[in-house]
Amino acid sequence: MDNRLVLLTALLVMLSWMSVGTYAATNGTAGTNGTSGTNGTSVTNGTAPPITPNTTVTELMTPINRADCGIGELCATQPSDCDPSTSSSCFFLAAKQSSGRNFDIGLSGESDGYLAATLSLDSELGGNDTTYVCANNNGVVKLFGTVLNNGKLTLRDLPVDSVKGKITGKKIQCTFSATVPAQRARASQVAIAISTGTFNSSTNALGDPITQLKSPLVDLANPNTTVTNETTTGTAAPAVTTAPPITTNSTVTELTTPINRADCGIGRLCAAQPSDCDPSTSSSCFFLAAKQSSGRNFEFGLSGESDGYLAGTLSLDNILGGNDTTYVCANNNGVVKFFGAVLDNGKLTLKDLPVDSVKGKITGKKIQCTFSATVPAQRARASQVAIAISTGTFNSSTNALGDPITHFKSSLVDLENANATVTNELSTTSHAITIQQSLTQALLFTVGVLGLTVL
Ligand SMILES: *[C@@H]1O[C@H](CO)[C@@H](O)[C@H](O)[C@H]1NC(C)=O
Ligand SMILES: *[C@@H]1O[C@H](CO)[C@@H](O)[C@H](O)[C@H]1NC(C)=O
Ligand SMILES: *[C@@H]1O[C@H](CO)[C@@H](O)[C@H](O)[C@H]1NC(C)=O
Ligand SMILES: *[C@@H]1O[C@H](CO)[C@@H](O)[C@H](O)[C@H]1NC(C)=O
Ligand SMILES: *[C@@H]1O[C@H](CO)[C@@H](O)[C@H](O)[C@H]1NC(C)=O
Ligand SMILES: *[C@@H]1O[C@H](CO)[C@@H](O)[C@H](O)[C@H]1NC(C)=O
Ligand SMILES: *[C@@H]1O[C@H](CO)[C@@H](O)[C@H](O)[C@H]1NC(C)=O
Ligand SMILES: *[C@@H]1O[C@H](CO)[C@@H](O)[C@H](O)[C@H]1NC(C)=O
Ligand SMILES: *[C@@H]1O[C@H](CO)[C@@H](O)[C@H](O)[C@H]1NC(C)=O
Ligand SMILES: *[C@@H]1O[C@H](CO)[C@@H](O)[C@H](O)[C@H]1NC(C)=O
Ligand SMILES: *[C@@H]1O[C@H](CO)[C@@H](O)[C@H](O)[C@H]1NC(C)=O
Ligand SMILES: *[C@@H]1O[C@H](CO)[C@@H](O)[C@H](O)[C@H]1NC(C)=O
Repeated sequence: MDNRLVLLTALLVMLSWMSVGTYAATNGTAGTNGTSGTNGTSVTNGTAPPITPNTTVTELMTPINRADCGIGELCATQPSDCDPSTSSSCFFLAAKQSSGRNFDIGLSGESDGYLAATLSLDSELGGNDTTYVCANNNGVVKLFGTVLNNGKLTLRDLPVDSVKGKITGKKIQCTFSATVPAQRARASQVAIAISTGTFNSSTNALGDPITQLKSPLVDLANPNTTVTNETTTGTAAPAVTTAPPITTNSTVTELTTPINRADCGIGRLCAAQPSDCDPSTSSSCFFLAAKQSSGRNFEFGLSGESDGYLAGTLSLDNILGGNDTTYVCANNNGVVKFFGAVLDNGKLTLKDLPVDSVKGKITGKKIQCTFSATVPAQRARASQVAIAISTGTFNSSTNALGDPITHFKSSLVDLENANATVTNELSTTSHAITIQQSLTQALLFTVGVLGLTVL
């Protein structure tokens, strides 16, 4: 075959790959839609519809046991490995995925009042965490949907049906089907808690829950997970490292080392527009670097040209706005002034943010600043954020920040992964694409252009 033919064929193959990539990418946007997942009642695409609440209880004929633990069912037990069908003091929860976010749940334990299971999306009990309560109502099980906040239970309709229950002495056993709350990032990462409390059957009053077991974040859909009190075996979610958050200190000292792109990809995550521009040498280069110091504490570098301010935004849901954390470095008559702000509806509102060690330098129109910050917590994964770089006007006499103009916006990336290549969604394509796909496409595109040059 003629060399040109080979190249042409290769090009055509590449182009078809690229279109497959683009197709897959548009398909992928449903999953990255941060807002749809936040609603506990919404359905994830491609899965079963949520359950309609029906708390009618029928009798549980088969006692709950640990037969399928690890081979079809996720089990949480306290003490570990106790069998709820034989042991009298055994707190036990089993979860088995039926479809999508619908799970069959079994709960067993001893209590004079109620036995409850809490599913927490952020590993901290409270903040209206979904809690299923099986109460001993004069010898029969009564199920309550509730949310846990500040150590108190509040009744709430939950998508639960097929409730079965049995009381044997102090032992409460119940099974039910439930549509579990949606995690923003991963469908089924939750912390599980089992608790007990008092129940007054004449008033339906639920006493404050006493936690008997609490797990770290686990994948509810993985039956191989075995959960014990604060520990797991099998495939558990990585423990979230927690360094203390930074205390706000916006004092700015002089930045003596210009920001550059050394260490990009080998210790620091970098976002740049144009991609690969070096902020230490290029005059038109919007640049943000992030390096994890500990837990959610990161060191940031921000560089770009602006007459007013330069800002970096971190969005947890991939959509700019909704009070996204924004770090603003403004040109205040030739010196950097730092502002913490939140971005909502295209406007910045000042807000104290956990930021310290701010350094800054103004050179002509170029604004460079570095700072340490405790980044906002993603519910599921500590560091998945979309990064944006923007500029706007700054009035140094009133401290007024003009509306930001976005120059760079990434898709959701893992801030902790220094190797992540962060590409600009704004300049490349109009549709949201994942990093891997954009990288593949960029590579293919480069090869394609080379091929054309040879032709
Ligand atoms: C998603 O991709 C699958 C397979 O690639 C395809 O069958 C399906 O129609 C796509 N859905 C959308 C909404 O593009
Ligand atoms: C993302 O969520 C918003 C708000 O719920 C909705 O309007 C939009 O259609 C969703 N997009 C996709 C691709 O699901
Ligand atoms: C959640 O869903 C409920 C019921 O469908 C709806 O009323 C509410 O507005 C939704 N909330 C959000 C934040 O989408
Ligand atoms: C998934 O979303 C696509 C596009 O929004 C829609 O066409 C399709 O019907 C949805 N699938 C299900 C099962 O809801
Ligand atoms: C819990 O829900 C109540 C009622 O919907 C609301 O007022 C409260 O702000 C919520 N608390 C949290 C921490 O989300
Ligand atoms: C509620 O559940 C009970 C028992 O599971 C069932 O007999 C009844 O028909 C259900 N009610 C509705 C409205 O579906
Ligand atoms: C249940 O509540 C009623 C009304 O507040 C009270 O009179 C009764 O003593 C309570 N019963 C128990 C067992 O606490
Ligand atoms: C669970 O374990 C079995 C056997 O060890 C394995 O084949 C399966 O892939 C595992 N499932 C998950 C979701 O890890
Ligand atoms: C479970 O773990 C928590 C935290 O480590 C601890 O406070 C609690 O006492 C433990 N519960 C039991 C029953 O061991
Ligand atoms: C942003 O924060 C303000 C003030 O706390 C609040 O009134 C507003 O509802 C928030 N907006 C969103 C989208 O969370
Ligand atoms: C704030 O930061 C400046 C410079 O980094 C430092 O000199 C000062 O001591 C800090 N203030 C407090 C209260 O820590
Ligand atoms: C980053 O790349 C280096 C070298 O290629 C590798 O050793 C390291 O494991 C990578 N880190 C991550 C988080 O992928």
